[in-house]
Amino acid sequence: MSSEPRTEALDPRVLIVCGSPRAHGNSEVLAEHIAKETESASAVTEVVRLRELDYSSCVGCELCRDSGKCSRFTDGMTPLYDKIVEARGLVLISPVHNYNVTAWMKAFIDRLYCFYELGYPRPGPWRSTLSDQDRKAVIVAVAEQTEVHDAGFTLEAMRLPLEALGYEIVDELLVSGVFDKGLVSSLPDALSAVEAAGHTLTQALAR
Ligand SMILES: Cc1cc2nc3c(=O)[nH]c(=O)nc-3n(C[C@H](O)[C@H](O)[C@H](O)COP(=O)(O)O)c2cc1C
Repeated sequence: MSSEPRTEALDPRVLIVCGSPRAHGNSEVLAEHIAKETESASAVTEVVRLRELDYSSCVGCELCRDSGKCSRFTDGMTPLYDKIVEARGLVLISPVHNYNVTAWMKAFIDRLYCFYELGYPRPGPWRSTLSDQDRKAVIVAVAEQTEVHDAGFTLEAMRLPLEALGYEIVDELLVSGVFDKGLVSSLPDALSAVEAAGHTLTQALAR
C-alpha cells in the first residue's frame, strides 16, 4: 500500500449514511432533508440505508493491512468503499440505541478500519489514507428522550472515528424527543436544523 497521501482534487460529493433499522423512521426522514439541501447546492448526493445492506462487522483479521481494502468480506460494504473515497462530504445519522450508535452504524464504522495504515511493531504510528483531502462531515443523533444525558455517547461514537479518519466535523446535531416512526416530519425546527447542517456542509466543501 502506498504511504503517499491522496492529494488529487475530489468532487464535492456527499454520501449520507443512515444507521436506523426502521424503514421510513426518523433518521431516514432527516437523511432525506439533508439530501434535498445538498442536492439543491448541486452536490452529487447518495443516501445509503445500512438496514438494506447485508454486511459483517470487522473481525480484526488484518488482511486489509496489505491491500488497503477489506479482503476478508465481499458483502454490502464492498461497494461503499469507493463511494466513501469519492465523496468528500460524509453525513452519518444514527438513532440512539442504549446511549450509543446502533449496531448497524457501529459495524459500518468498524469496517472503515481498512483505511488505516498502521506501523509495526504494534502499537506504532498510524495514519488514515483518507486524511489531508479536505474531507468534511456532519453527524446527527436521533433520540427518544429529551435529556442530553440519555443520548449517551452517540455523537462522540461518530465524531471520534471520523476525526481519526481525517474528516473535519462541520456540524453535529442531537435531535431529541422523537420516538414514533417518522414523527420528526412534523417537527419543523428539527427539519430546519438538519437542512442548515446540509447547507453548512456544502458551504464547507465549496471553500
Ligand atoms: C434498542 C433501542 C434502544 C434505544 N435506546 C435509546 C436511548 O438510550 N436513549 C434514547 O433517547 N432513545 C433510545 N431509543 C429510542 C430511539 O432512539 C428513537 O425511537 C429514535 O427516534 C429512533 O430513530 P429511527 O426512527 O430513525 O429508528 C432506543 C430505541 C431502541 C429500539
